[in-house]
Amino acid sequence: MRATVWKAVFPRDFTWGVATSAYQIEGAWNEDGKGESIWDRFSHTSGKIMNGDTGDMACDHYHRYAEDVALMKKLGVKAYRFSVSWPRVLPKGKGVVNNAGLDFYKRLVDELLRAEIEPWICLHHWDLPQAIQNEGGWTNPDSVQYFADYAELLAHELGGKIKRWTVFNEPRCIAWLGYLTGIHAPGKKDMQLAVKVSHHLMLALGKTIQTLKESNHSFRVGTITDLNAVHPIGNRKRDMEAAHKHDQFWNRWFIDPLFNGEYPPLAEEIGLKPTKDDMSLIKQPLDFLGVNYYTRTIAAHDASVPVTQAKGVQKKTPTTEMGWEIYPEGLYEVLMRFRTEYGNPLLYVTENGAAFEDNMTRRGEVQDDDRIAYLRDHIASAYQALRDGVNLKGYFIWTLMDNFEWAEGYSKCFGLVHTDRQTLKRTPKKSFHWYKNVITDNGITF
Ligand code: FCB
Repeated sequence: MRATVWKAVFPRDFTWGVATSAYQIEGAWNEDGKGESIWDRFSHTSGKIMNGDTGDMACDHYHRYAEDVALMKKLGVKAYRFSVSWPRVLPKGKGVVNNAGLDFYKRLVDELLRAEIEPWICLHHWDLPQAIQNEGGWTNPDSVQYFADYAELLAHELGGKIKRWTVFNEPRCIAWLGYLTGIHAPGKKDMQLAVKVSHHLMLALGKTIQTLKESNHSFRVGTITDLNAVHPIGNRKRDMEAAHKHDQFWNRWFIDPLFNGEYPPLAEEIGLKPTKDDMSLIKQPLDFLGVNYYTRTIAAHDASVPVTQAKGVQKKTPTTEMGWEIYPEGLYEVLMRFRTEYGNPLLYVTENGAAFEDNMTRRGEVQDDDRIAYLRDHIASAYQALRDGVNLKGYFIWTLMDNFEWAEGYSKCFGLVHTDRQTLKRTPKKSFHWYKNVITDNGITF
């Protein structure tokens, strides 16, 4: 008997892309007038990053960007999502502009346009200028205006070449990992500060969307948020409540204000009391939302966890190298949520991907079949959501090449391209060739 062939063919205008971020790939941390960022400071502090790794050199993309764009051209992506290092263009976060830094992004964008790859700019992927941190960073209400001014500068300098603007990458990681668990820069562990930061980020988002729209009406402006699927471990009432609270804290906190103009009820319980003006500033019309998805959280009641009384527990299913459960159905679930709960906005999956231990064969090949399976199943899940009415317009893989994975340093590899840590030589993995075919076929076949 012949196996059934199942095909997922995406709409013709579907955007296939890859994503990266400045600190994870650029290197050149103190070159050509770049200022220090909180990630430079954090990675230079002993004990913060696995194996003492830093992003000082990263993938040296700052010097090798042309080679990397050529790789993307070969891959066939229609769009490339990258971020700008704020202290590279404004070494102190405000005031004097570093033209050499701006020139780098101009050269990169020109190279992309020549290769017919649409640049998707992200204004902030975590590397806050240390000088702004010295003034309190995101805990300081002035950071809202500093950020909007930085956005205006980029809109003015790059707006002629870039139409697609995304404001923040994953604000929940900035607030909760940077200020609550402390595993990310600036490494604080303080609930009240974290809540304050979360609100300033949302205000900065609203103000910056306004600023970008005012500076150029043709910009398509969105922002990027990460969501997990969240399920209770069982049907005991306290586990269900834990899951509900976990979802409010980790997911809805950063979405409800945008679409519904209010924080979830948990915010008030913790003491966040925004004004009406704050909430109307935050609720700006978005042209699209970027959704990053990797895994799900199984939540169980745990009275010792502040605020949510919820802890994530591991189910015995396959996981990636990050220890994250492989749960493609969750992508369908989070995408459908936007259809049912948030008015079906225009969506892009702006990150999805997996870390695995990729061994290079003696012949210099990386046979990453586990990554291919992960990506295939998630793309299938996204397709299902599209079929069920989600307004999904594109999908970006995290990430182009193996790079600096934050607290994990170089120990976790997500790339479609292998980066040799000694020579920085780039070698496309099997998944690179596989994704190239997906793009050419505009879909997948089982
Ligand atoms: C996301 C980050 C991205 C990368 C992936 C694995 O949370 O946005 O920079 O580290 O996780």
